[in-house]
Amino acid sequence: MRTLLALGAVVGLAAAGFAQTATYKEPYRPQFHFTPAINWTNDPNGLVYHDGEWHIFYQYNPFGDLWGHMSWGHAVSEDLFRWQHLPVALPEVGEVMAYSGSAVVDHRNTSGFGRGGEPPLIAIYTSRTVTDQTQSIAYSNDRGRTWSRYEGNPVLDVDDPAFRDPKVFWHEGTQRWVMAVVLAEQRKVSLYGSPDLKEWTHLSDFGPEGAHPVRNWECPDLFELPVEGEPGRSKWILQVDSGMGHPWTGSGCQYFVGEFDGVRFTNDNPPETALWLDWGRDFYAAQSYSNVPAEDGRRIVIGWISNWMYARQKPTSPWRGAQSVPRELRLKRFPEGLRLVQQPAREIDSLRGQSILLRDLGIEEANRRIASQGFKGDTLDLQAEIVIGTAIDVGFRVLQGEGEETLVGFTASPAEVYIDRSKSGVVDFHETFAGRHSARLQPSDGRVSVRILVDRSVVEVFAGDGRVAITDRVFPRAASTALSLFAEGGEARVASLQAWKIRSAWH
Ligand code: FRU
Repeated sequence: MRTLLALGAVVGLAAAGFAQTATYKEPYRPQFHFTPAINWTNDPNGLVYHDGEWHIFYQYNPFGDLWGHMSWGHAVSEDLFRWQHLPVALPEVGEVMAYSGSAVVDHRNTSGFGRGGEPPLIAIYTSRTVTDQTQSIAYSNDRGRTWSRYEGNPVLDVDDPAFRDPKVFWHEGTQRWVMAVVLAEQRKVSLYGSPDLKEWTHLSDFGPEGAHPVRNWECPDLFELPVEGEPGRSKWILQVDSGMGHPWTGSGCQYFVGEFDGVRFTNDNPPETALWLDWGRDFYAAQSYSNVPAEDGRRIVIGWISNWMYARQKPTSPWRGAQSVPRELRLKRFPEGLRLVQQPAREIDSLRGQSILLRDLGIEEANRRIASQGFKGDTLDLQAEIVIGTAIDVGFRVLQGEGEETLVGFTASPAEVYIDRSKSGVVDFHETFAGRHSARLQPSDGRVSVRILVDRSVVEVFAGDGRVAITDRVFPRAASTALSLFAEGGEARVASLQAWKIRSAWH
């Protein structure tokens, strides 16, 4: 695997004509999150499982570390964490960029692109010129290694210049393909149906609904999820990313819970209800995997962990942009209604190294044990249950060093979970970067559970058994690796704390 990875990086660099080398040891370089070896990335694209491989395609600029020349970069993994880089799958052609989209396995060969009885992989993407955005398809007969564009492109065009980000899935009920695609400026998701991925018929439009005001809608997804603990019941989730309009400003990812009858999506909640997949400032353009085997059955999503407000200024080199860990989504009933819960895909367990386990301790005693065991690190998977007690603010300091810390905490009143990156390290590259990003979370029996992933410049928090996710990027010094707990205004306890160092997926 090691050789494959190294080779992959070299291939990627050679293809782009760069003399630069990527070591995956650069400052801030995530060790178990996906990043391209060099250059710019934004949205994940074409997430599809096929023939033992998880594919990730991603918005990629092969020529630099700022947005431009948008193409589909490509990598594959057998375990969702250790990735092998492959050459650019869909390059810009002339001045036509390949914008975001999805990929499917055409098992019935409805498209006719299959060969030798093998189903083709089909990518459905937006062809973007300066004046127009239309939907195109490309196919691969060699497990995604090479791609041919359909000569009949575009397969879908409407009289609107901001029409993009097609997400396609096979709809069993109507035995046809369904595409969710946005009319971005109108803040609408349009649904289309097709027998063969080439001819598309308009089915319905949804929106604008949810958060307001929002500049535009991008990167939709539509899928069915079983309601946990209610056998035979399921709902449809329409997810749509919103440029600006996130509670903490900038871009963010909304979802709606409802029904889809093969033609129309209807929202179960009042139109103004805004549900957020992630309450941090760095989670956008999320997309779910297609063709996940039935025996696996998970709905797995990856999001771009950045924000259009400051994505271009992030202080990393020779690459810029990263993807979240793959997250498993489930749908659960709460007093306030049906809500998504999420957790990192369990494959992360295979990267676990040294660990610490503490039970039923006061905060100071827990800190003494963490220090005496020398437990620290900048790549961690931490799971804890905290009894809030009389404390008004309790939590963890991660990536802690001289004058630097990132806080992951809980307040009693209002009942909230938060990440505070005000003193997390380099924050001055954008005036809105520093800050605290919270979400409502009611403790149950005075306790809160939390899972925290720390990966050098990434903090992903899953609180209340995954009911709330908060993702924030941070840029601390390499020496800021200490971990400790704090409790303010009263006594709290650590019911349990288990943490692992996470080994690099790149070395
Ligand atoms: C979302 C987005 C998409 C578009 C892509 C271009 O981040 O703006 O709507 O397809 O990025 O790179």
